[in-house]
Amino acid sequence: MSETTTQQQDQQRVQHRGVGGVSITARQQHPTPADQGRPQTEAVIELRNVDVYYGDYRAVRNVTMPIGKNQITAMIGPSGCGKSTVLRSLNRMNDLIPGARVTGSITYRGQDLYAPEVDPIEVRRRIGMVFQKPNPFPKSIYDNIAYGPRVTGMKVSNMDDLVEEALTGAALWDEVKDKLKQSALALSGGQQQRLCIARTIAVKPDVILMDEPCSALDPIATGKIEDLMVELARNYTIVIVTHNMQQAARVSDKTAFFTAEVDDKGERYGVLVEFDDTQKIFTNPSKKQTEDYITGRFG
Ligand SMILES: Nc1ncnc2c1ncn2[C@@H]1O[C@H](COP(=O)(O)OP(=O)(O)O)[C@@H](O)[C@H]1O
Ligand SMILES: [Mg+2]
Repeated sequence: MSETTTQQQDQQRVQHRGVGGVSITARQQHPTPADQGRPQTEAVIELRNVDVYYGDYRAVRNVTMPIGKNQITAMIGPSGCGKSTVLRSLNRMNDLIPGARVTGSITYRGQDLYAPEVDPIEVRRRIGMVFQKPNPFPKSIYDNIAYGPRVTGMKVSNMDDLVEEALTGAALWDEVKDKLKQSALALSGGQQQRLCIARTIAVKPDVILMDEPCSALDPIATGKIEDLMVELARNYTIVIVTHNMQQAARVSDKTAFFTAEVDDKGERYGVLVEFDDTQKIFTNPSKKQTEDYITGRFG
């Protein structure tokens, strides 16, 4: 896709943004997994009554929601309401934070993710994560992709093919195929983020978690990542945390709106206010808190 086309699309998206609310018109000219007729109902991950603690602090309380297969599920809500905390609980990334623990139940394809016999490393291979700031390794483009398959001991018959496949899957191959031995750090921010997505898909995950993957990128690079997410949802299940409500409206099938509440001891904690089809959340939410947030009256 040429730069101009992307730019025009971006302008169209911008024009479709409603004032004081979020127009979802843009989403209709930007086909999403749901529009492509994929099944909507089967849950790959299910959270039931999930609380997440940091030490004694119960940061997130009582979250129950499914993550639908081959869907894009967006988590939105004001800063500090626990979006990243919940996202990290889905691939046991919180295990790496001292004092962090999860109660309630999170199942992945019916298996308790936190059962003692479950290997968190294997969980993170199947449920990969892309972070806010692109974080390529200080290695060549090729080695960034080959790293995961090598360290996880994947059986790879032809690494060159795997590298090409992952970079193609992340819509980056054409831009880098002639400089695979060059440092990944020389790429633009948007290219680095697509490289990180390629690195994630190189180990053949099932689910991809993205924590504000576009917040460090310009609108054109953001548009490319959004297009890529929609493309990736054909083969993967995607969960994205975003600050950008237009982005949630444009790309996601389901939206989870979180907010922060204060308990009677004065402690702030995150709760899931409403989970529903994105279209419903942005046009006719059931809860007043959701409506106030998406219309910009709060947050
Ligand atoms: N590593 C951590 N240790 C202690 N508290 C944390 C940690 N990470 C997040 N928190 C707290 O958990 C709450 C939710 O944070 P976070 O999940 O980062 O929110 P969001 O991603 O919605 O901005 C906040 O009160 C935050 O201060
Ligand atoms: Mg966050």
